[in-house]
Amino acid sequence: MRSLHTPLCDLLGIRYPIVLAGMGGLHGRLTPPELVAAVSNAGGLGVTGLTDVEPEEIRRRIRAIRALTDKPFGVDLLLPATMDEAEPESIEAMWERICREHPAHVRFLRELMREYDLPAADPANDWFMSPRVLAEQAQAVLEEKVPVFAVGLGNPDLVLERAHAQGTLVLGLAGTARQAARQARAGVDVIVAQGAESGGHTGRVGTSVLVPEVVDAVGTTPVLAAGGIVDGRGIAAMLALGAQGVWIGTAFLMSEESRLYTEHKREIAATASENFVVTRAYTGKPARDVKNAFIERWERSGLPHLPMPLQWVLLREFRAAALAAGRYDLLNNPAGQGGGRLAAVRPAQAIFADLVAETSATLDRLARL
Ligand SMILES: Cc1cc2nc3c(=O)[nH]c(=O)nc-3n(C[C@H](O)[C@H](O)[C@H](O)COP(=O)(O)O)c2cc1C
Repeated sequence: MRSLHTPLCDLLGIRYPIVLAGMGGLHGRLTPPELVAAVSNAGGLGVTGLTDVEPEEIRRRIRAIRALTDKPFGVDLLLPATMDEAEPESIEAMWERICREHPAHVRFLRELMREYDLPAADPANDWFMSPRVLAEQAQAVLEEKVPVFAVGLGNPDLVLERAHAQGTLVLGLAGTARQAARQARAGVDVIVAQGAESGGHTGRVGTSVLVPEVVDAVGTTPVLAAGGIVDGRGIAAMLALGAQGVWIGTAFLMSEESRLYTEHKREIAATASENFVVTRAYTGKPARDVKNAFIERWERSGLPHLPMPLQWVLLREFRAAALAAGRYDLLNNPAGQGGGRLAAVRPAQAIFADLVAETSATLDRLARL
């Protein structure tokens, strides 16, 4: 069997160039310490998405990962574009402004709640990010001296100097070759070329076009390919396109360790590739989600979406009510098109072992052509 090792493995200190994508959501429970450690212990790099976790809890999660593995791992956060962005209003003030300025939006959602017979529920527990909170989150990650700091959205430059001074590698996500080239020039250590097939917030260029474009644009900076990769054939294809490894999200959402709602894992298993759709309905920014009745109703309403984060705040009553009623089918379930090819929930280690074995088998098959 062919060995699956690229120079990126040496940079990251891992055996196989397979990385668990940092996926935030459900207060960090999509990528809990158990999942991160399972991937790292299997020889990949586990990355936890902690965008919606408070700074103190971020520290606890990092320590929990360290208790489960002595292998390298990473943390993924969103950062602002600059550190001097104005502090926004409180979530309550935003909600009051939305009620004043967008009464038709609020009416539409309240009518929908009546139609679906959703009881009113308290949205108080909604997480909210502001530039100050993002800065505190970044501070927590840096102070914990994690091996890899991944920056999903926003400006990696803000953490580069401090990260490099302490030996933390910085990984940046890019949806275009231009973004990738800019990050490489700034000194980002590894670029994730994230294609449109990806789950969650995503761009417009498909993975098979984006990956070679990014590889050509970033010189010697290693590239991880992302978007739609769910098996070893996909990994071998990305290596052929010039990537040194892969960043995999949706396939690991379907692990036993990910605490994504069971109902949402079932939805992914039952959904065909064409029904993982891009919508601004939930966050105001284009994100790929499992198509559902809420997305259809929102798109049909003709209402213009509000910019992020207002769209998310607009939905807070509706989200809390749907959750209280157990109507998971109305909540957002971000997942990539590759979900169309995933049918079962399995231990992360089994998913990982299959990815390695299938990639080697594919490389062997290609060598015989
Ligand atoms: C549920 C979900 C949540 C995500 N959250 C984040 C996030 O917080 N930060 C980030 O950088 N990327 C996030 N992503 C994108 C992933 O990092 C990754 O790029 C994507 O999952 C790759 O495509 P795939 O799902 O087809 O494997 C998320 C993706 C999903 C499916």
